[in-house]
Amino acid sequence: MAAPRPQKHLLLPLLVSLLLAASSPRGADAWGKEGHIMTCKIAERYLSEDAKAAVQELLPASAGGELSTMCPWADTMRFRYHWASPLHYANTPNVCNFKSSRDCHNNKHVQKMCVVGAINNYTAQLLTYGDSPKSSWNLTESLMFLAHFVGDVHQPLHVAFEEDEGGNAIQVHWYRRKANLHHVWDVSIIDTVMKDFYNKDLDTMVNALHMNLTNGWSDDISHWENCENKRATCANDYAIESIGLSCHYAYKDVEQNITLGDDYYFTRYPVVEKRLAQGGIRLAMILNRIFDKKEADTTMPLYVQ
Ligand SMILES: *[C@@H]1O[C@H](CO)[C@@H](O)[C@H](O)[C@H]1NC(C)=O
Ligand SMILES: *[C@@H]1O[C@H](CO)[C@@H](O)[C@H](O)[C@H]1NC(C)=O
Ligand SMILES: *[C@@H]1O[C@H](CO)[C@@H](O)[C@H](O)[C@H]1NC(C)=O
Ligand SMILES: *[C@@H]1O[C@H](CO)[C@@H](O)[C@H](O)[C@H]1NC(C)=O
Repeated sequence: MAAPRPQKHLLLPLLVSLLLAASSPRGADAWGKEGHIMTCKIAERYLSEDAKAAVQELLPASAGGELSTMCPWADTMRFRYHWASPLHYANTPNVCNFKSSRDCHNNKHVQKMCVVGAINNYTAQLLTYGDSPKSSWNLTESLMFLAHFVGDVHQPLHVAFEEDEGGNAIQVHWYRRKANLHHVWDVSIIDTVMKDFYNKDLDTMVNALHMNLTNGWSDDISHWENCENKRATCANDYAIESIGLSCHYAYKDVEQNITLGDDYYFTRYPVVEKRLAQGGIRLAMILNRIFDKKEADTTMPLYVQ
């Protein structure tokens, strides 16, 4: 059945509100498109054979076999799946620590409706892959949501202060351009890094991050992968890291109307690069734990926290 059409006199207000929504702070994406694609491109290189096969089977045909093409999907669905909007982030009551029981809820105070709950939720759904009778979840969506939210939880300002909406309400200049602090971390720093160091080319940047994963950061990987929580993901820990980085880097020395330039950029972009790489490694680890048949006995089962 065709959806009822909005009546004419409703159409204009609808359009206006859509436009306003599109420019409203919380409409802002999590890592821009580029950040999500990079995180997933890194993850793809660390998938086990079993995980790769399962991902291939779950991806829609339009993905062309590449998980990374679907990683921005959740942002494109924010208007259609309005309920999923709070799943992209978590807010703290303006303090530098994160507590799931206090901070992981939507604005109607439904518990677990935040980025940490969502990662556990979609992980638990994907664990029904291969069940018979067939899982009742749409596991294609579960995968696309999970890949996106693991990226989001690594963007520091996605676990940040309620008062300033994760930096969305802090107006700044990024060099000469107007922006808000949240957007600087989602998009501007990445854009500037790509322009300065990587010929504006996403794959060149992914390769550089990958080089560091095999060299400079190689000792860190096992630490990043370390997830003590055998019963759920470690999304809670990633959120705790992010609020720490928000306080120590993103918010530090920032006030309304400030101009952020070289001093801020050169001390913050290494954090952004590391978080993109960490997100990729951890997404691969989560997918491997879910789909790896050989590992299943030792690290399973994962349950929602
Ligand atoms: C879990 O996933 C289902 C299906 O997408 C959704 O309806 C529900 O709101 C999700 N809950 C959380 C906490 O992510
Ligand atoms: C599962 O979700 C995808 C993405 O939203 C959609 O294209 C597909 O039709 C859904 N599959 C089923 C069986 O509903
Ligand atoms: C890679 O590591 C080198 C040396 O540790 C560092 O100078 C460089 O900024 C790193 N590159 C990335 C992409 O983080
Ligand atoms: C920031 O700038 C705007 C417009 O330029 C001004 O209205 C506002 O008072 C300033 N806020 C602060 C805290 O300086």
